[in-house]
Amino acid sequence: MISSKPTKLFMLALQGAQSFRSYTSNAIRKKICIVGSGPAGFYTAQYLLKNKSIEIDIFERLPVPFGLIRYGVAPDHPEIKVVTNSFTKVAQNERCNFYGNVTVGKDVKLSELQDNYHAVVLAYGASQDRTLQIPGEESKNVLSARSFVGWYNGHPDHVNEQILLDTDTAVVIGHGNVALDVARILLQRLDNLKTTDITEYAYEALKKSQVQKVVLIGRRGPLQVSFTIKELRELIKLSGCVTKMNVTDFKGIPEIISSLPRPKKRITQLMYDTASKNETGSSKTCEIKFLRRPNCILSDDQGRVTSLICKINKMEGTFENPQILQTEEEDVIKCGLVLRSVGYKSVLIEPDIPFDKTKHIILNDGGRVEGKENLFCSGWVKTGPTGVIVSTMSGSYETAEKILADIDKLASKPLAGNEIILELLKQRGVKVTTFNHWMEMDKLEQERGKALGKPRVKICDIDEMLEIV
Ligand SMILES: Cc1cc2nc3c(=O)[nH]c(=O)nc-3n(C[C@H](O)[C@H](O)[C@H](O)COP(=O)(O)OP(=O)(O)OC[C@H]3O[C@@H](n4cnc5c(N)ncnc54)[C@H](O)[C@@H]3O)c2cc1C
Ligand SMILES: NC(=O)c1ccc[n+]([C@@H]2O[C@H](COP(=O)([O-])OP(=O)(O)OC[C@H]3O[C@@H](n4cnc5c(N)ncnc54)[C@H](OP(=O)(O)O)[C@@H]3O)[C@@H](O)[C@H]2O)c1
Repeated sequence: MISSKPTKLFMLALQGAQSFRSYTSNAIRKKICIVGSGPAGFYTAQYLLKNKSIEIDIFERLPVPFGLIRYGVAPDHPEIKVVTNSFTKVAQNERCNFYGNVTVGKDVKLSELQDNYHAVVLAYGASQDRTLQIPGEESKNVLSARSFVGWYNGHPDHVNEQILLDTDTAVVIGHGNVALDVARILLQRLDNLKTTDITEYAYEALKKSQVQKVVLIGRRGPLQVSFTIKELRELIKLSGCVTKMNVTDFKGIPEIISSLPRPKKRITQLMYDTASKNETGSSKTCEIKFLRRPNCILSDDQGRVTSLICKINKMEGTFENPQILQTEEEDVIKCGLVLRSVGYKSVLIEPDIPFDKTKHIILNDGGRVEGKENLFCSGWVKTGPTGVIVSTMSGSYETAEKILADIDKLASKPLAGNEIILELLKQRGVKVTTFNHWMEMDKLEQERGKALGKPRVKICDIDEMLEIV
């Protein structure tokens, strides 16, 4: 934990160096630090670096960069990960540094960053998940989609998840794109995963998987799904798998499809056509169920989930103003695995940060943290855990613009930046990785992957990552 302070001598030497620098150069180097190296961190840095007087340090909890691009995006979506090429250019800018294996709030205090940088940007994402708060949720083999995603993607926090795939039926709760990702991974043909960067242990476990059916549970109707058409189409087209929906859940919908806004119109038509076809004959099934409110989870003598009980909802109102009515009717879905995919959740990394405890976001105005003059935020911790990479990009640019508007006022005197912070981390025994270390790890991962015909074999163990330092 945080204990050591910089020595007096070190501080005096540093002040001397700073005053010499400010004497020799009129322009103050504007030092900004960013907490988190996901898309929000990198897009904020990219925008800020356009201003040539700005220097940026990115501090990241893990020894490696890229957040959910590395640990969230599905292994069978390699085209999405290409965005790391532009993040690499940002990190290689001579005015940008990456410092990995540094947890802000644990290894270094936010106040220490605020004291040593002209502005601090919190871009630390959403590292937890929402829960359902229903009885039985703690049963064995009930876990968050976040854990499952982290497991197949090799996130160091999730490599040791115990996930039992010895069951015919898995339930995924939620109708968002994460739910579709995990359903697709469970139902995907293995030869489609073999040449991806999925972890070897997950691939081997999926090889032995007995899951034949995935039931996707949504508490509202077809018009309220959050997943998008490209991802749904991909699921529907999975080879050896049929996607089913109950056409009676579409009552009244065909009549209004043509009046829906365009993206809604297209996805609703696709769902309705799929439901109407009622295809059979494949060995695997993905069943999309609507109007099911998870009510409780039942387990066997060993505490392992055996079924999910849902209450059946009714929808009334209009597309613009839908109303859910609860009924006491039940649907019992027998299953041996439940993945809860009802959204991620940001956490408070330090008590001083103004935080909305209901929405789980930092209180902010367009990226300016409320009541804190040199504190800003970007990404999911700013907006909540929705939005794709492109929307995270535009939100991060908005934050960067706010910083640029304030930076001259904030940078009225020179500050030490990483000169003090790296010394503090050294004194605290924190092994810090740099972007060059990441490039070495990246090379090693790709070399290991080549032998197996994969883009990379991820290093999943933090100690192994740190051997490079
Ligand atoms: C499973 C999943 C799949 C997705 N797939 C796609 C997709 O295919 N296409 C698409 O467009 N969008 C996709 N998204 C959305 C996309 O990933 C997000 O929009 C984006 O990652 C949000 O960026 P962020 O930087 O706010 O958060 P993150 O990407 O989570 O980055 C936050 C970073 O902060 C670090 N951090 C956390 N706490 C600390 C701390 N205390 N100190 C220092 N660092 C810290 C984390 O380790 C992490 O690296 C997906 C999301 C999920 C959950
Ligand atoms: N391929 C891609 O582009 C891709 C892949 C993965 C993720 N992403 C993006 O990442 C973001 C996060 O995705 P996500 O799927 O985690 O979130 P999401 O899109 O917000 O979906 C969450 C789902 O959980 C449901 N839900 C929430 N609370 C619930 C409860 N208590 N009981 C039952 N259901 C509940 C929601 O239903 P209600 O609507 O009824 O609240 C919704 O269907 C999204 O913007 C997504 O598009 C993109």
